[in-house]
Amino acid sequence: MLNIALPKGRLGEKVYSMFEKAGFECPSIKENNRKLIFENEEKGVRYFWVKPSDVSIYVERGAADIGVAGKDILLEYRPDIYELLDLGIGKCRMAVAGKKDFTDNPAKTLRVATKFTNIASEYYAGIGRDIDMIKLNGSIELAPILGLSDVIVDIVETGTTLKENNLEVKAEILPISARLIANKSAFRFKSEQIEEILKKMKEQIEND
Ligand code: PRP
Repeated sequence: MLNIALPKGRLGEKVYSMFEKAGFECPSIKENNRKLIFENEEKGVRYFWVKPSDVSIYVERGAADIGVAGKDILLEYRPDIYELLDLGIGKCRMAVAGKKDFTDNPAKTLRVATKFTNIASEYYAGIGRDIDMIKLNGSIELAPILGLSDVIVDIVETGTTLKENNLEVKAEILPISARLIANKSAFRFKSEQIEEILKKMKEQIEND
């Protein structure tokens, strides 16, 4: 059995349909229930839904052989895994955002709220800017509105969340997309099945 960790939520459905098209379908996954694990013995696959930010933990520790994780998570947590393929879905950007009327005063320490403290530290170190890091776990956009921070470092997809909260992008840090990742030893011991999936997914991307 090949154990596959899928990111639960928006991205997960798209990811599963790529596996399905690759010939590794598992019809029971489409049943509307709260089960977390689905198997297709004939195809030799077992899928499970995990929180998107946890996929790389399952893969790194071998509870999953392969999985799909956002580049943001891979850069932030630097798991010891193989990154096999950019799937070209779940595209968004990591950006600095703030209130429209905010302008940075280089004489002051910049207060930055984010979930992505490693990405943010690296970005500001790279431009030589002193910051005061405020680690949050969600609804990051609230921070500059309530004066908790000057700016945020967060994911921007459509830009709707920023717009509806009167915030704007101040700087782009990185483009992000979903990556197929593999556990290092599974990549050796289950190489046939993994290579097959990799090949089929590459074909799908090329034909898109
Ligand atoms: C992410 C991100 C933004 C939003 C951006 O949040 O943190 O809030 O999506 O998307 P948009 O540009 O299309 O509006 P997510 O829904 O992942 O939840 P979070 O609050 O836990 O970060």
